[in-house]
Amino acid sequence: MSQSPKNIMITGGAGFIGSHVVRLFVKKYPQSKIVNVDKLTYAGNLNNLKDIEDAPNYKFVKADIADLDKMREIIKDNEITGIIHLAAESHVDRSIKDPFTFARTNVMGTLALLQAAKEYWDSLPEKYEGKLFYHISTDEVYGALEITNPEGVKAPFTTKASADDHMAFGVDFFVETTKYDPHSPYSASKASSDHFVRAYHDTYGMPTIVTNCSNNYGPYQFPEKLIPLFINNILQGKNLPVYGKGENVRDWLFVEDHARAIDLIFHKGKPGDTYNIGGFNEWKNIDLIKVVIKTVDRLTGKPEGTSEHLITYVTDRLGHDMRYAIDSRKLQKELGWEPSLQFEEGIEKTVKWYLDNKDWVDNVTSGDYEKYYDQMYKNR
Ligand code: NAD
Ligand code: TYD
Repeated sequence: MSQSPKNIMITGGAGFIGSHVVRLFVKKYPQSKIVNVDKLTYAGNLNNLKDIEDAPNYKFVKADIADLDKMREIIKDNEITGIIHLAAESHVDRSIKDPFTFARTNVMGTLALLQAAKEYWDSLPEKYEGKLFYHISTDEVYGALEITNPEGVKAPFTTKASADDHMAFGVDFFVETTKYDPHSPYSASKASSDHFVRAYHDTYGMPTIVTNCSNNYGPYQFPEKLIPLFINNILQGKNLPVYGKGENVRDWLFVEDHARAIDLIFHKGKPGDTYNIGGFNEWKNIDLIKVVIKTVDRLTGKPEGTSEHLITYVTDRLGHDMRYAIDSRKLQKELGWEPSLQFEEGIEKTVKWYLDNKDWVDNVTSGDYEKYYDQMYKNR
């Protein structure tokens, strides 16, 4: 939006991506009030924001986004003009075990936020002018792609090749108009929330934007997702549970590049529009795992590849989507965004961060997490 909203509510700001977005906005927009609304589930951790928690333009409110009255109160009391909505249950494996929590937070929570924002903005004389509801979604809503490259998906499917080079290769990508086809309870809940956001735009004229991003990695990611889980397990000499044959493909983006895209789209994106975010950086899981192993080995002073013996093939995830791949040319061409890091640089930064922040890992994995991990993985 051209006119910068002054009071910005960021939901899920104590989580992985949200904490990077909160940090960026608090530092870059000292004139704006940044209100972080987070329930602090197992995935939310205020230690992620230690460096900015005392900033005069930052405020934290512990609340559940599915609590409509509370959302009404926070939005009104803080005179919120822009919302960046990241709060969600986000892990596919958990959604397979407990789909209801995903529907509650991702669907009903998003609906409560939309309704609370609508009521407050409707009550103002200028209504929707200068307002924006920006919903952060995932590429997983589009379903799964096949691996169409006969040599397997490696180079040139990396950030080193241009977007047009990728297209010339003639394989499928998710574009903004790809039909939704979610398979997991997680992606079904995100798809449903995306539909509600668009419904509030199409029905009430509310200014909304939806973005669908590929897999993120980087500092502060909870160690249940592939990359931080494997870094942590290598450091502890634990097995690396590779689902199925390790042939599934994901498209990886460094989290700070996602946060920069969110900033750009929040300020320059077109209300009513959708943008795909991704860095043309596809990796077969097993190839990516070997890069992670090499990097951890090198940075801990071991010969590269020493930890490969930890790789353990385990029962596949139910309904495991084969391949995700984002075509982000619309964002690149219309708003001039591009990823800043090559994958190897991003992995190096990420591994270094986990090595330097073992206390953070110990802290977030204390309590119930060990029990959860044992149930989830040891019997797989
Ligand atoms: P995360 O699980 O690390 O963090 C989610 C945050 O939401 C946590 O701080 C948690 O406490 C909070 N939260 C959960 N339920 C809540 C509720 N009912 N009320 C208030 N707060 C609640 O997630 P993430 O990986 O940072 O993902 C953030 C968003 O980005 C999600 O909407 C996710 O779908 C989307 N996304 C993630 C990725 C990825 O690779 N991680 C990729 C694309 C899109
Ligand atoms: P994940 O990080 O859970 O992200 P998503 O399922 O949203 O893509 O998983 C990334 C890929 O890694 C996915 O294909 C599943 C696979 N995977 C494993 O092989 N082992 C694991 O322990 C985990 C967590 C994931």
